[in-house]
Amino acid sequence: MAEAEVSSRESRWSLKGMTALVTGGTRGIGFAIVEELAGFGAAVHTCSRTETKLDECIKEWERKGFRVTGSVCDVSCQTQRDELIEKVSSTFQGKLNILVNNAATVVSKDSTEVTAEDMANTLGTNVEASYNLCQLAHPLLKASGNGSIVFISSVAAVVAFAYTYHLWSI
Ligand SMILES: NC(=O)c1ccc[n+]([C@@H]2O[C@H](COP(=O)([O-])OP(=O)(O)OC[C@H]3O[C@@H](n4cnc5c(N)ncnc54)[C@H](OP(=O)(O)O)[C@@H]3O)[C@@H](O)[C@H]2O)c1
Repeated sequence: MAEAEVSSRESRWSLKGMTALVTGGTRGIGFAIVEELAGFGAAVHTCSRTETKLDECIKEWERKGFRVTGSVCDVSCQTQRDELIEKVSSTFQGKLNILVNNAATVVSKDSTEVTAEDMANTLGTNVEASYNLCQLAHPLLKASGNGSIVFISSVAAVVAFAYTYHLWSI
């Protein structure tokens, strides 16, 4: 491929100078999103509830030359969400280009066994947290002049699975 063509493609697909927050980036889909965004040149902040795993990931990303920072946050907790966005604001000088609401939980039980507490935890983590993070991040997204929000959902949101829980247990 000609050199000019490669450089044109790189400039079209670059995220250099962009900032991103990806919740739940220490494994699975969130981990892959962090690596993809950082690989395109974005500075990324991520969070999870487990400090040791977060530290491990940050070291791995450092070794790969990615610009990734992280902080411990349980997104289902309002005060921790406030702290997360404060951290993101100070790390990225008040500007955020991309918010990826990825962290989520699933109850591995038959529907008849799901308790009110299970339901509150699921809605608090998967719905309320994502909605509130959008609200909290709004000033930062606006300040960047080019803000995007991504919600990670599931095919199970549109197609009924008889045994959805087995899919998450694999
Ligand atoms: N994998 C699938 O087959 C599948 C299918 C459809 C949709 N999805 C969606 O894709 C997204 C990612 O799924 P995944 O399978 O990659 O998940 P995963 O492997 O279980 O990873 C979840 C990530 O989120 C973090 N996390 C979980 N609860 C959190 C909380 N309350 N606060 C902060 N961080 C939290 C986890 O770290 P800690 O546990 O250390 O906090 C981890 O980094 C979710 O939105 C899920 O609904 C996945």
